[in-house]
Amino acid sequence: MNVLVINGSPKGERSNTLKLTNAVLEGIKESTDAHIETLTVKDMDITPCLGCMSCWGQTAGSCVIKDVMTDVYEKIMAADLVIESFPLFFFGMPGPMKSFTDRCMPLMETYRGDVKTIGDDAFHEPRFDMSGKKLVVISTCGYGRTEEIYDSLIKEYNFICGAGKYTALFCPEGEMFAIPPLKPQIDAYLKRYKDIGVLLGKGEEVSEEMIKKASEPILPNRAFKTLVNNYWESCN
Ligand SMILES: Cc1cc2nc3c(=O)[nH]c(=O)nc-3n(C[C@H](O)[C@H](O)[C@H](O)COP(=O)(O)O)c2cc1C
Repeated sequence: MNVLVINGSPKGERSNTLKLTNAVLEGIKESTDAHIETLTVKDMDITPCLGCMSCWGQTAGSCVIKDVMTDVYEKIMAADLVIESFPLFFFGMPGPMKSFTDRCMPLMETYRGDVKTIGDDAFHEPRFDMSGKKLVVISTCGYGRTEEIYDSLIKEYNFICGAGKYTALFCPEGEMFAIPPLKPQIDAYLKRYKDIGVLLGKGEEVSEEMIKKASEPILPNRAFKTLVNNYWESCN
């Protein structure tokens, strides 16, 4: 299995979200032979999209900007599984990750003016054959729950990929992953992500129940609130 990880956290290797992603990768490695490559967006010199739309016209399917993304398109096409891993920033994705996403425009089919009722479908068709490819989006946020907090991001991915065409693993209380004394709780939580990785490696469906458990708070709200407040007070 060819796995491409896009680490979109500005923290790079120190990312809370990457801890969950690495647990998924552990599960994948346990269940299948996998070639895994992780790209760290903050270390990539990605020129933001120019908005020229050439990739839908004169140079259809190809971007006029020749930078690191030229290789990334190849890597995406060669991957069986793409995992996007990033924190929630102001209810969306961090800026560099958005630049990365914008630069994926050449992978989408040219928009020709149809006005359709979308429902659960994506707004754009892929330009290239993406059948058999899987997308998993993993994200942590600072808030104590994921309901509503992720609504705009979910909408964005639904419009880009189509609802149900990707697996979303969104985790609240993300900063708890950076607290070493919470190791027992963190390890138990990471196991849920590893179990998901095992299924992904086997090419099996991840149940709604497992996805729901992957979005539960790590700590009960009272303990979480105490830790958050203690932290901010220690900063004064
Ligand atoms: C600029 C900025 C914006 C953020 N916006 C949100 C937000 O809208 N909702 C939220 O719950 N957490 C928000 N957070 C908290 C991060 O999502 C959280 O700390 C996350 O676990 C960081 O993940 P990382 O270590 O993988 O980068 C924000 C943090 C920063 C720095």
